[in-house]
Amino acid sequence: MDVTKAIETRRAFRSFDPVEITDDLIEDLARHAQLAPSCNNNQPWRFVFVYDQVRLKELHAALAPGNDWVRAASLIIVVFSKKEDDCIIKDREYHLFGDGLAAAFLILRATELGLVAHPIAGFSPKKTREILGIPEEYQIVTFINVGRHSAEISPVLSAKQVDWERVRPARRALDDFVFLNRYKPS
Ligand SMILES: Cc1cc2nc3c(=O)[nH]c(=O)nc-3n(C[C@H](O)[C@H](O)[C@H](O)COP(=O)(O)O)c2cc1C
Repeated sequence: MDVTKAIETRRAFRSFDPVEITDDLIEDLARHAQLAPSCNNNQPWRFVFVYDQVRLKELHAALAPGNDWVRAASLIIVVFSKKEDDCIIKDREYHLFGDGLAAAFLILRATELGLVAHPIAGFSPKKTREILGIPEEYQIVTFINVGRHSAEISPVLSAKQVDWERVRPARRALDDFVFLNRYKPS
């Protein structure tokens, strides 16, 4: 799959069939994240790959309302980092930017492998920290939920989520976010 195809194919689907999680799959996804660029090559991202059934069930307690569909994920990748591990240039703290790039690389690779990898912000960092033993100094940034896209729409989805399962949510027009040579207020 070329990059454009992977970008176009990637979707934040919420209806999952199970996937077998192997050591090879975890290493493959991690190796793609590993190659992401980062400020001064600091590589601030950290991941916990959660696929043990007991631990997955524990982690479900951290999900926010509206994210019940995550319970069908075979793998939840918890992404976290701390600002001291990456460039801080005056008021610019780069660790979240690094996490985002690494997550994007991983998500595109998962897409190429025929999987769904759906990042979310709707979780309790406090509960996640307790369940996974992640120290306070780290900011927990996202769960990336991995499964195979199911042809059957998950019964736990809201009406809006069902719509989004069928049609990709609309994007801003290029004119709204692309400026040529100078910023132009709208
Ligand atoms: C940082 C971030 C947080 C998100 N949080 C949630 C979430 O908590 N629950 C959810 O169902 N989807 C979540 N999403 C998925 C977005 O809703 C989805 O990417 C967006 O609607 C565009 O749809 P598409 O990715 O299928 O093109 C999140 C995505 C990102 C990048």
